[in-house]
Amino acid sequence: MANKNQLFEANTTFIGTRGVKEYRETIPVWINSNDIVLELGCEWGTTTTLIAQHCKEVIATDISPKCIGRAREMYPDLHFEVMDGFDVKAALDLDKPFSKIYIDISGLSGYNSTLDTISLLMMYANVLRPEAIIVKSGALKRFAAHCIAWKSPSNRP
Ligand SMILES: C[S@@+](CC[C@H](N)C(=O)[O-])C[C@H]1O[C@@H](n2cnc3c(N)ncnc32)[C@H](O)[C@@H]1O
Repeated sequence: MANKNQLFEANTTFIGTRGVKEYRETIPVWINSNDIVLELGCEWGTTTTLIAQHCKEVIATDISPKCIGRAREMYPDLHFEVMDGFDVKAALDLDKPFSKIYIDISGLSGYNSTLDTISLLMMYANVLRPEAIIVKSGALKRFAAHCIAWKSPSNRP
């Protein structure tokens, strides 16, 4: 149970986007030339090529060996790996200090997937501790749009 003596608190910022256009338009805003980026659900690498133009390094992953095979053929200079995005240990084993994570995994966009999306985000935030996670999930975007972090009147300046 969390209490005031709890020491660890993840500082990751979560950005919820709806649709691939919004997902990709975050790239020049959220990625800089020092970033090492992990991409989950890269399919055959279209978004990876855009990310690669803005960051120091990107490792793009997908659960489908067929997608990764095609991505490697199309973009031999980029780094692709077969990986289940829910396997955070496999992401840890990539052994990189990922500063940004991009997530576009099938099934996270539907409005019934809010809890799955939040648990995936918290798992990556707590284990890899990136500065930001950008996720293509209409569910998360809608949830975030209805959240307010309450500030007690006694703590306001
Ligand atoms: C909508 S596509 C991604 C499109 C890609 N991000 C782009 O912008 O071109 C969703 C991808 O999620 C992948 N996927 C599904 N379940 C996954 C999982 N558990 N881990 C990693 N990738 C997964 C699928 O194989 C598929 O390639």
